[in-house]
Amino acid sequence: MVERIKAIEQEALGALGSVNDLTSLDQVRVRYLGKKGLLTELTRFLGSLPEQERPRFGAVLNEVKTKLEGIIKDKKAALENTALGQKLKGDALDITLPGAGVKRGKLHPITQVMDELIDIFQRLGFSIAEGPEIESDYYNFEALNIPPHHPSRDMWSTLWIDADKLLRTHTSPVQIRVMEKQKPPLAVIMPGRVYRRDADITHSPVFHQLEGLLVDQNVTFGDLKGTLTAFLHSVFGKDKKVRFRPSYFPFTEPSAEVDVECVMCEGRGCRTCSNTGWLEILGSGMVDPNVFKYVKCDPEKYTGFAFGMGVERIAMLKFGIDDIRLFYENDMRFLRQF
Ligand code: PHE
Repeated sequence: MVERIKAIEQEALGALGSVNDLTSLDQVRVRYLGKKGLLTELTRFLGSLPEQERPRFGAVLNEVKTKLEGIIKDKKAALENTALGQKLKGDALDITLPGAGVKRGKLHPITQVMDELIDIFQRLGFSIAEGPEIESDYYNFEALNIPPHHPSRDMWSTLWIDADKLLRTHTSPVQIRVMEKQKPPLAVIMPGRVYRRDADITHSPVFHQLEGLLVDQNVTFGDLKGTLTAFLHSVFGKDKKVRFRPSYFPFTEPSAEVDVECVMCEGRGCRTCSNTGWLEILGSGMVDPNVFKYVKCDPEKYTGFAFGMGVERIAMLKFGIDDIRLFYENDMRFLRQF
């Protein structure tokens, strides 16, 4: 009996010695220690032995079983370890490499500049209003003191939709819409998209304006100058000279165009400022009494000033961009720079 056990042990040890994968290891385990395994069968056979012999054989059998179980367990652990090692080597992950990261979007340069301009006026106490991009002749022209067939209509290359509807050529019609609804005192800025039949490196058929309107009792041209100077110093720097040049707009009287010292050449004269040393930034003026009449605001009691500027133009000067079309081409190489 002991010999038989020893023989089986030797055989099992031999089989285990040549095993080098988990499947054949398990086959060996089943063959010797499984439910119908050779050693398990011997255990059952033990029951048929005379009582006094059982302990001796039982001890030998258990010893062999424990020994084999131990070897199988170690072998299994070793094989699993190599398998894991190989798997790790296969899909090796270098945790020292920088991660892919999540790319953050950014605001378009025009949006950035628009936000900056709006922010300056909000700090000065202006609130925001908006109006439609498809306008009627009345709001875009007539109520702004530009009658039909008046030559000043030539100041805006208008894109007409039909005899009455058009794509607004400026944000000034929002002035009318605001004053129809709100009574003075009021201080409002009106950002928005405007349209003109115009296209070259500094003009786009669609661009953005920021309009402003302040109405109250005793508003003077001095208030206009002070407000717009503070604004321009905030955008271009306190060291820049600002000048007010007489001009004409049908809806303001008197009117002024506001220039800032050229940001490219510091006033010495260059290509950007056509050698004048000045950059034209915005149109402005005191609200024409005729405009007040259209919105039933008493011109004897109230005065006000209005202004309008092109956002693309300011963005081009701030960032040193010489072709307006770059803003609309969605070229990531351009957009990533802001
Ligand atoms: N609406 C004018 C333009 O687009 C600008 C402007 C606005 C001028 C308000 C004076 C007052 O050219």
